[in-house]
Amino acid sequence: MNHTDTPDNTSDVLVVGCGIVGASIAWNLARRGIAVRCFDPSPGNGATYAAAGMLAAVNEGTFGEHELARLNVRSAALWPDFARELAAETSHAVGLRETGTLTVAFDADDHKQLRRLLDLRQQWGLDAREIDVPEAREMEPSLGPRISGAMWAPGDHLADPRSVHRALISAIERRGVEIVHRRAQTLLQRAGGDTDTDPVIGVVDDTGERHHARLVVLAAGWESAGLVSRAIGTSGHVPHGARVPTRPVKGQVVRLDATHEPTFLLRRVVRGIVQDRQVYLVPKDDGEIVAGATSEEQPDDRKVTAGGIFAVLRDARALVPGIDELPVTDVTARARPGSPDNMPLIGPTSVPGLVVATGHFRNGVLLAPLTASAITEYCVDGALPDAVAAAIPTRFAPSPLIMNTSGAHSTIGVHDQRERGEEDG
Ligand code: GLY
Repeated sequence: MNHTDTPDNTSDVLVVGCGIVGASIAWNLARRGIAVRCFDPSPGNGATYAAAGMLAAVNEGTFGEHELARLNVRSAALWPDFARELAAETSHAVGLRETGTLTVAFDADDHKQLRRLLDLRQQWGLDAREIDVPEAREMEPSLGPRISGAMWAPGDHLADPRSVHRALISAIERRGVEIVHRRAQTLLQRAGGDTDTDPVIGVVDDTGERHHARLVVLAAGWESAGLVSRAIGTSGHVPHGARVPTRPVKGQVVRLDATHEPTFLLRRVVRGIVQDRQVYLVPKDDGEIVAGATSEEQPDDRKVTAGGIFAVLRDARALVPGIDELPVTDVTARARPGSPDNMPLIGPTSVPGLVVATGHFRNGVLLAPLTASAITEYCVDGALPDAVAAAIPTRFAPSPLIMNTSGAHSTIGVHDQRERGEEDG
């Protein structure tokens, strides 16, 4: 690749990926006076575009994910200020609705499952309680006839991800952040002969242009894994402490229009367990209802399937049959950035200059404020706050348990494809 280098191509921080997480980081950094440049061929057209916007710290709490629940709770607490400051700076509405979440169970087994989850959430000190079915119906009169139990989480609110993203783009542009509508193809690593310690000093975009920075923040959703494995490896391997094992987990959602149906009313998020499957209906300020979502171990092919949409609508109408009358306005398939332990990766890698903010899986919208403030603190002070210590990316460095027989660390699942253009100089 023939790289070009222009003298003014230097920023303090390059943010790769400008979805809700990357844009939130860029906004926070810019507010601290840091010169930022973002890379994304189509900002906001990844997981952000499909997201329903539930800030569901309680409802996403499940067995084995206590640390994730802690992160979620911390970030939920940041959301009101984040939304208020963003709206004030841009005059954009961001659709924050502090109306809580009602979760219902369809049949008796679903009710048992909901009670188990409720017990767990209460043990963790989360704000949730069981309510009876008449009380649930009073809150949401459009609930269908077959509801066997309900849980109320008064602090699980919602925002509108597409509006939030529009506001973030406006905010960062006003603050002078340049958004480069190109793909960051590879990372630039100073060639010193040791991949584990040679600093990352920028990126090469898909036109071959080089951009330099003190730090590169990788916030490219599930695609982050590919960028790291393509880019680093001057000695033939990805440094153990720079593994970014994200994968796409496809979700399909349906958007319905309730604006012209005066008899249809949904005041708050209704989630449900329907014969062991999860579903949610999320009402927006503009009368849109977002119903979702599938969770498929599939690539990000962006194909909406008959089976996927059928499953979402079947389960959504089991809880709220009135959606039958609503026009379908949009169907969307996008991939969430999954990680091996469902926790995000937030913070520095072992390679100097390379920071990651990805793997947010089902909680990208919820975790955006916490991620942005933690990454900003790291970029400014050089230390990651304790609040996100459990999300440290280096936890995926291979442990002795998965050493191969020669004693060398295994790099299973990581492709090393060193390209000459990755090196600087
Ligand atoms: N946050 C809900 C989902 O990922 O489907």
